[in-house]
Amino acid sequence: MAISSTVRDQLIAAAHEAAKHAHAPYSNFYVGAALLTADGKIFSGCNVENASYGLTICAERNAIFAAVAASSVVPQGKIVLQAIAVVNAQNVPCSPCGACRQVIAEFGKDITVYYQGTDGIKQSTITELLPDSFSL
Ligand code: THU
Repeated sequence: MAISSTVRDQLIAAAHEAAKHAHAPYSNFYVGAALLTADGKIFSGCNVENASYGLTICAERNAIFAAVAASSVVPQGKIVLQAIAVVNAQNVPCSPCGACRQVIAEFGKDITVYYQGTDGIKQSTITELLPDSFSL
């Protein structure tokens, strides 16, 4: 589904806003994500780290889990994503990690992914980023 440049810019701005909330005292890498659902809602999330390291959660998954938790779609929680943007406070290249790609793929077949590349924001699809994703 085509996303307008206005909506893309809204998602990127919301992701930057979310990155300001990141709890990242171990990596000092502040990440924000914002997504657009099929019913036109925007949800955002930031990374939240933990002293045990392994319990850290990425910004993308936090945004998705917030959207699922707030969903009134029936059956409950079965949201569909149109797009997700991920940025970081340092503006260094950063695409979604493998775990987040698998979680993004759970929620749609045609999802646009915006992320920081070497020359500004890159655009891809979740299928390009995670071909042959696992599904049940
Ligand atoms: N991180 C994200 O939030 N999203 C990504 O796509 C990559 C990595 C976070 C996890 C951790 O808090 C920090 O960035 C460094 O890996």
